Amino acid sequence: MTYDDIAVALIVGNWKMNTTVNSAITLANAVKFQIEDQFRHEVVVCPPYVSLHSVSETLRGSNIAVGAQNMHSETNGAVTGEISAEMLSQICQYVIVGHSERRTYFSESDLFINLKLLAALSADITPILCVGENLEDRDSGLAHDMVSSQLEANLNGMDLDSKIVIAYEPVWAIGTGQSASPEIAQDMMFHIREILADLVGNRSEAIPLLYGGSVNEDNIGVYVSQADIDGALVGGTSLNADAFCRLVANASRTER
Ligand code: PGA
Repeated sequence: MTYDDIAVALIVGNWKMNTTVNSAITLANAVKFQIEDQFRHEVVVCPPYVSLHSVSETLRGSNIAVGAQNMHSETNGAVTGEISAEMLSQICQYVIVGHSERRTYFSESDLFINLKLLAALSADITPILCVGENLEDRDSGLAHDMVSSQLEANLNGMDLDSKIVIAYEPVWAIGTGQSASPEIAQDMMFHIREILADLVGNRSEAIPLLYGGSVNEDNIGVYVSQADIDGALVGGTSLNADAFCRLVANASRTER
């Protein structure tokens, strides 16, 4: 996808902490086989670190890109157990940054996420920045404020002429089967687009906005037909090759 052609849906599969190296290769092959003849989309799969290289090799020459699920902000050094953007840059094109599971379970701060984004861009990897409110924020009418504050802190100092993707994932919709209504999703995407417009003017139109949270083959169509939704970040459904490929096909067919 060129980012000037956002009519093409961008579908990202986040495999989270699932698959072994062998089953990741099997899943990647199954997706590759079924997706090969579909063109109206950009597809990315994000396996666990240990499978990144094998999945990249499996998908080499296909129209499916590979992403990591996380990275550290430092380039190298004494940070046991961590992976840098520079390391990732030799094996993948995208990296998910600031997923709510990282923010919640690993206490990742907005500042740390900001540093990761800057590091990803320096290494020429496209970051997929995740933002989203929790249920308490939504119930108290603070959803917009929460997302604004995440975006402003996370994007601080960034050159948004670089490639970046933003995923809006309401925390209450992730893995719960309770996807946000298309109206809620579109309303927040419009809000995000306005924040981006303040930062980069018309260029905000070229930043792909993904919805994430219980997306499946049946509901993808209503999301990608919204004015400000350019694709989806998909967790559970991306682990089933058949369902994921049907989801991609349903996104591809949707015109808006
Ligand atoms: P889900 O996960 O599709 O399983 O809700 C989405 C995500 O966490 O990115």
